[in-house]
Amino acid sequence: MITPQWLENAVFYNIYPQSFYDSNGDGIGDLNGITEKLNYIKDMGFTAIWLNPIYESPYRDGGYDVTDFYKVGKRYGTNADFERLCAVAHQKGIKVCVDLVAGHTSLECEWFQKSCRAEKNEYTNRYVWTDNWLNIYNGECIGGYAQRNGAYMKNFFYCQPALNYGFANIDEPSWQLPPEHPDCRKTKQELINIMEYWISLGADGFRVDLAASLIKNDYDGKAIIKFWQEIRTMFDEKYPECVLISEWSHPSRAITAGFHIDFLIHAVFPAYTSLFRAEDERNVPRIFFGDSFFDTRGKGNIETFLNDYLDEYEKTRDRGFISIPTGNHDLARISYGRTNEELEAIFAFIMTMPGIPFVYYGDEIGMEYIPDMPSKEGGFTRTGSRTPMQWEQGKNAGFSDGEKELLYLPVNENGVNVKEQLSDENSLLNKVKKLIALRKTTPALSACGDIEFLNRKDGGYPLVYKRIFNDETYLICINPSNDDKKFEMELYADMIMKNGNVEISERGIVLGAVSYAILKLK
Ligand code: GLC
Ligand code: CA
Repeated sequence: MITPQWLENAVFYNIYPQSFYDSNGDGIGDLNGITEKLNYIKDMGFTAIWLNPIYESPYRDGGYDVTDFYKVGKRYGTNADFERLCAVAHQKGIKVCVDLVAGHTSLECEWFQKSCRAEKNEYTNRYVWTDNWLNIYNGECIGGYAQRNGAYMKNFFYCQPALNYGFANIDEPSWQLPPEHPDCRKTKQELINIMEYWISLGADGFRVDLAASLIKNDYDGKAIIKFWQEIRTMFDEKYPECVLISEWSHPSRAITAGFHIDFLIHAVFPAYTSLFRAEDERNVPRIFFGDSFFDTRGKGNIETFLNDYLDEYEKTRDRGFISIPTGNHDLARISYGRTNEELEAIFAFIMTMPGIPFVYYGDEIGMEYIPDMPSKEGGFTRTGSRTPMQWEQGKNAGFSDGEKELLYLPVNENGVNVKEQLSDENSLLNKVKKLIALRKTTPALSACGDIEFLNRKDGGYPLVYKRIFNDETYLICINPSNDDKKFEMELYADMIMKNGNVEISERGIVLGAVSYAILKLK
């Protein structure tokens, strides 16, 4: 397998396109707006961006309900705008990855409309349909929508009918097809065509939505692993510089399947939630972070994270990367209930871990989560994490020239903003920028350096770990709690970066409330 070199130093910026920057005053962020802000992205040190869906859509799930996979949604601009975005980004050394909603389409998609017809046609098996209108297959299928005598399977919301990539285990043979069935192969071929199309316009890779969901009844994941392996082989042969990023949250499977990067988020393991987000599994945000490790009460336990993480890391480290993102469009913002000092400590962690960091737009300024925002486009509790980027004080926080009523979502005009933070040396933004720069210039801190956790007693406070590459060793010490924490070890080191009260001596380190230190061992 081939790993593109650029990944080893990559730091991604995740952009929700409708909320980033509106270039034409219609109140909705667009591709030209992103192009205009590439200098900011470059200046921060980001080397790549992941764009949430930019396709034509009725937006019943924020664009994760695609009508035309070959067309940029009107509100975002044109395919030519996308090509220009990629071209300008590439000139600046920034890679552009797009979202690939592989598992489903919108109801309006022409394929689905044809698939609904009673008479057989090319698209009859493009989606998963049961054999009669009464069979809703344990409630997973929606009846009563189509003219044909069957119910369609949904992949997420009712308005996201599942594309048919087949069933790994067949329990109702009258309608379930195996993955090798020619019609299922055709669905897969279409997915490949879509990928090749966006690559031809300049895309450098894909973040694959619900990557594990495509093949049904695949209990051990074997069929879906094989499915993606074929695509990775094609990438290695034809597009060795392009990357596959999965929303799978099971790195040992995803990376075996051929993904270059898998996100550690909430789906499978408690690893991520136990770090920052001890919220319930339905992702309902809470004001208290329960027993998260990164919490000032210091009641978490790093073992919950390490139990999952170390195992997955060992299984995948030579083949791909685990990403611990700051957040995304599905989670309450990491700033929720936290101070800037707490956020800085989290960034110090994320920017010194192996794998590849992803920063959700606005997290670098500690942008606020808005808890009670009415749901927009199927966002529900996620809506409060999708508000427009806050560029400066004043009209629409610099997001748009348009009238307030036109804005995609209300913008916080008096909140934190980029302009103020740029001019304040001690702002979160400037600290994040320094951490990114440090990571990129220090092989031991970047994607591939080794890691060793030193303090695993008493919940693991303070967090102490080594990062090692060749003959360089760094020590990262983080105290997210409100109490002083100390760690005893023989310590000869130079201080590289810190925040809060930190004292080092030859006998160890003492970390005051919410502090961290990055040290280079002598
Ligand atoms: C993924 C996306 C989420 C979307 C869902 C269905 O989890 O991140 O936003 O609603 O898939 O496509
Ligand atoms: Ca616009």
